[in-house]
Amino acid sequence: MLAGKKILIAVSGSIAAYKVAFLVRLLTARNAQVKVIMTESAKDFITPLTLATLSEGPVYSSLFNNDTGEWHNHVKLGLWADLMLIAPASANTIAKMTNGVCDNLLLATYLSAKCPVFFAPAMDLDMLAHASTQQNIATLIARGNYLIDSESGLLASGLVGPGRMAEPENLVEILENHFKKGAFHGKKILITSGPTHEAIDAVRFISNSSSGKMGKAIALAFAKQGAEVIFVSGPTSNYPGHSQISLIKVKTADEMFAVCKQRYPEVDYAIFAAAVADYKPQCMSAQKLKKNGAPLHIKLTENPDIAFELGKLKSNKQFHVGFALESNDAEHFAKEKLNKKNFDLIVVNCLEDAGAGFGHETNKITIYDRANKKTSFELKSKDKVAIDLLYLITTHE
Ligand code: C5P
Repeated sequence: MLAGKKILIAVSGSIAAYKVAFLVRLLTARNAQVKVIMTESAKDFITPLTLATLSEGPVYSSLFNNDTGEWHNHVKLGLWADLMLIAPASANTIAKMTNGVCDNLLLATYLSAKCPVFFAPAMDLDMLAHASTQQNIATLIARGNYLIDSESGLLASGLVGPGRMAEPENLVEILENHFKKGAFHGKKILITSGPTHEAIDAVRFISNSSSGKMGKAIALAFAKQGAEVIFVSGPTSNYPGHSQISLIKVKTADEMFAVCKQRYPEVDYAIFAAAVADYKPQCMSAQKLKKNGAPLHIKLTENPDIAFELGKLKSNKQFHVGFALESNDAEHFAKEKLNKKNFDLIVVNCLEDAGAGFGHETNKITIYDRANKKTSFELKSKDKVAIDLLYLITTHE
């Protein structure tokens, strides 16, 4: 999995830097190509000679070599890498990454890297718990960096708690999963998408302006990760085309429910991205209704709540993700839905956020999990939002 992969390890100043020797050893043993960047303070914890020897190449730490005038091209380093892992990521480096500070080679490379960036915080538990550190970590996640959470245990300070850098074996496993041909290989995913049309008469219907773009992006992201996707979509012009995706077109909520119920027992994940109409006309007129000068009253009746009904059937091997488009008090309503519909994660977008939700190419989401953890992301393309969602799912199983 890691053979031939170009991994750039960036080491900042924390006692956990000693673990990087093991990390580099594990990576080279898997035939990964490893280059190492160190900050000046990282060198207080582990020598460049150790990491140069283990990575079989020079360690980079300054933008240029004063003796020879040689310039270390941070852009080239960033472009060389298939993946950059900042480990350990100290509170200081995390704060600088968040604020675009560029006063060393590690930060210059981070700012110009085009590859996925993972960061593994390591610090004392109070530094980690501090509101500014938490805010910085949340900002980096929101920008699409991948957090490898610290572990709980005995810290260098003698205190016990969260803040230990993830163990090298665990870091390697996460990198392997990232490169694995399809993290969702062999998994089946049910995705509902788009609006539903609830007929009033032969030509008219009740619906909403869901475009199906978010559902399509999620389906493609899963398919690219090797999953088999059952894509149940209401009428839209956004259908994903991929050999791993089977498309089932439906019109009404009842039809969508019937298909989902039938396919549900075979799936590992269900993603409820459809904007299902809550109500349908009680009676549909087979003829086109004529106007006759009098008010027209259409009696509505409730549609099945697909997510709620399947939530009742969910086994502990199945994983549900719901969506909520809210206009006010988003957190409160989202958490209520998470519980009521038995979701594992709920993805929330707010009508107030410009560029988010129905019809847009972009979305701005916040995800809540069952442990009440909130992860917020910046406004970004729906394709990138889908990748963020997939990564969060893999960290919640
Ligand atoms: O209650 P609300 O409609 O806001 O809930 C949104 C979530 O429930 C979405 O994940 C949506 O796909 C799902 N849902 C559903 N069937 C309905 C209504 C909503 O699956 N009838």
